[in-house]
Amino acid sequence: MWDVASAWLDEQCHVCAQDSNQRNTGPPAAECGVRELNHLATGPAPGIGMPGLTSLIGIQEKGHITAGSNQTMVVSGAAGACGSLAGQIGHIMGCSRVVGICGTHEKCLFLTSELGFDAAINYKKENVAEQLRELCPAGVDVYFDNVGGDISDTVISQMNQSSHIILCGQISQYNKDVPYPPPLPPAVEAIRKERNITRERFLVLNYKDKFESGILQLSQWFKEGKLKIKETMINGLENMGAAFQSMMTGGNTGKQIVCISEETSL
Ligand SMILES: NC(=O)c1ccc[n+]([C@@H]2O[C@H](COP(=O)([O-])OP(=O)(O)OC[C@H]3O[C@@H](n4cnc5c(N)ncnc54)[C@H](OP(=O)(O)O)[C@@H]3O)[C@@H](O)[C@H]2O)c1
Repeated sequence: MWDVASAWLDEQCHVCAQDSNQRNTGPPAAECGVRELNHLATGPAPGIGMPGLTSLIGIQEKGHITAGSNQTMVVSGAAGACGSLAGQIGHIMGCSRVVGICGTHEKCLFLTSELGFDAAINYKKENVAEQLRELCPAGVDVYFDNVGGDISDTVISQMNQSSHIILCGQISQYNKDVPYPPPLPPAVEAIRKERNITRERFLVLNYKDKFESGILQLSQWFKEGKLKIKETMINGLENMGAAFQSMMTGGNTGKQIVCISEETSL
């Protein structure tokens, strides 16, 4: 009997899978992409899974954080699922300063008072360039980029020599007809090249061999109280579309979850 099943599936009404006693009809679980994750039974489930792995592996693979070297990290989309975890992981891994950029005053407060970010910028109300100069006086060494566009152009312009962009996502560009990753404006690309700033494509699904150890690490940090998880819940599969739209326009703090049933056999 499984405690927790985790799968990378599309939006759908039901999944056919067998448990280890082959009690359910349908194709074998592995063919559906379902696998057993017993060690997660007592750990945090949805909010930490894919966003946690994306943040952790993205930082490990592309962030080049060296504990004790006084690095400053900036996170855009900082109050969302990936961003809220990325900033906390940046601190855990040794950044001395973590600054978040997000879209409301309440989200800024959440980052600084609950998640331990050193500062936060409301990009809808504040001048991001001015605030960054004030809040990152030693420049930016690691940029966890969830949004792209003007915000990222502004951050990149204040990045240090041989610093690193973790190209997690470019949500501000998804409705535009541009290639991925979207090219930077020429002046910003010139800065990037001149300062030797890395900006490599990153896709978490290319690192499946690191998922098991990643989930164990994240669960451990969570149990130790080092990692806090926030979820925004909406009820009912019929509200999936509304939840997606809300997430795309900033309605969520932390991971947007659609709750299909509160029944659980755990
Ligand atoms: N590389 C990978 O393998 C991988 C895996 C998962 C996700 N991602 C990417 O990671 C990013 C975050 O995904 P998530 O699932 O964690 O979503 P999320 O951050 O929980 O939700 C999206 C957030 O983006 C912000 N946003 C929306 N439009 C924006 C705009 N035009 N400019 C600035 N901010 C905007 C909104 O917050 P505000 O209120 O702050 O505006 C919104 O809450 C996305 O770009 C996604 O595609 C990449």
